[in-house]
Amino acid sequence: MGSVDQATTGGLLQRYDEALARDPIAALGLIRQWMREDWRSLFAELREHRPIFVTPAFTVVTRFADVLEVLSHEEVFSVRAFGPRLDAALGAPFMLGRDATPMNWREKGLMRVMLEPGDAGRVRELTGRLADDLLDVAEPHGRIDAIDELFRPVALGVCAGYFGIPGPDQQTLSRWTQAIVADGFANYLADPQIQAASVEAGTELVAYLRGRLAALRARDELPDDVFGRLVGSRLPDGVGMTDDRILVNMAGLALGFVESAPGAMAGAVEQLLLRPHVLAQALEVAGDTERFEQYVWEALRFNPFFKLIPRICEQDHVLAAGTPRAALIPAGTFVLTAPASAMFDADVVPEPEEFRPNRPRHHRLFFGSGHHACLGMHVAGPVIGEAVRRLLLRPGVRLLPPPEGEIEYRLGIFPGRFALELGTGEREG
Ligand code: HEM
Repeated sequence: MGSVDQATTGGLLQRYDEALARDPIAALGLIRQWMREDWRSLFAELREHRPIFVTPAFTVVTRFADVLEVLSHEEVFSVRAFGPRLDAALGAPFMLGRDATPMNWREKGLMRVMLEPGDAGRVRELTGRLADDLLDVAEPHGRIDAIDELFRPVALGVCAGYFGIPGPDQQTLSRWTQAIVADGFANYLADPQIQAASVEAGTELVAYLRGRLAALRARDELPDDVFGRLVGSRLPDGVGMTDDRILVNMAGLALGFVESAPGAMAGAVEQLLLRPHVLAQALEVAGDTERFEQYVWEALRFNPFFKLIPRICEQDHVLAAGTPRAALIPAGTFVLTAPASAMFDADVVPEPEEFRPNRPRHHRLFFGSGHHACLGMHVAGPVIGEAVRRLLLRPGVRLLPPPEGEIEYRLGIFPGRFALELGTGEREG
């Protein structure tokens, strides 16, 4: 959503009901369209009038408590919506494709150790260097495509410098991750071509990682990155990872990061640039990364990258039991939890339409919640914060008039293009 307007309440549900009586497919099309283009208004109406919104194809969960309830019951609400696709691409199970297995428990634990929160400083420094170099190149031109010329190459650079996955080249790594994510999270009609492209990309990615693993094993000294750490870790048999498991988990790092981080950076920058007075306050504290990042997270609440997190209901479940909105979710229901809506639920987030940088961390659902909560959040946080900071510290960064100045998404999910004006002199008030 490219505007700072408050969500307007009213009218959408009535239009949906009328369309549903005539043509259910068209009615669902309307919901999908509003989820993309006018999600704040749609969710505001749903939270108020149909907090658990049952449609013929899916059920949308919009209140904060209910989103948490779904995401914390992995034995009831599974990741089967996308799990089998990820398995097919990687040729083996991965934590985000399975629920509550010993593999989830063990590998998430091990990978948390590898993605040490204490790396935040080093990751921030790397991000800052990458971002400044790219901005130096773009600045003389007076404009930048913030996605392809800054955010995506920064994410790929962190993938290379911190994870230890440079890819054969940035373009190929990006192509692989997009093909796999497209099938897992945007192939609603199960298009066999998209599926085949994902399996092909996954096979190539894992083969590439296998080559890199062999090269690492041949070295006397391992690099100080996540891949090197994982290969060098010495754990008793049955606890450590086999080579095959290392490859799947390394692939998962790239898949979790390369598109979501640029998407989040773009969303936050857009929302800050739409609010010049807020941006000015943020820049006043830009010397203090922690305080600055509070503005980034609050901006992201107004345009989060993962607006919906899908689940399949595996057994009948009464959601929000004991409240007036309690609803039976039958087994087999495709459930869309809406963190983007939950973060505007006034029962939990006071005066949600106001921009308040000091909101508590537990009101943020950008990184999911519960069993599948983001593995990489301690790394992603400083990367997003620092890339945004380095960009906004440049003089004269401005949104261009729409449509150019709006974030364009490919396939409805991938950050595609986000053109910005860059000044060449001092930042103006
Ligand atoms: C260092 C960067 C990142 C890595 C390595 C990473 C990796 C992962 C992994 C492996 C999972 C699955 C965890 C599990 O199944 O237990 C996950 C979940 C998730 N990640 Fe990340 N991620 C990164 C960055 C991001 C970013 C930038 C965002 C968005 C702002 C994000 C949002 C999420 C969300 C919402 C989930 C939950 C998905 C669900 O419940 O279905 N991640 N991440």
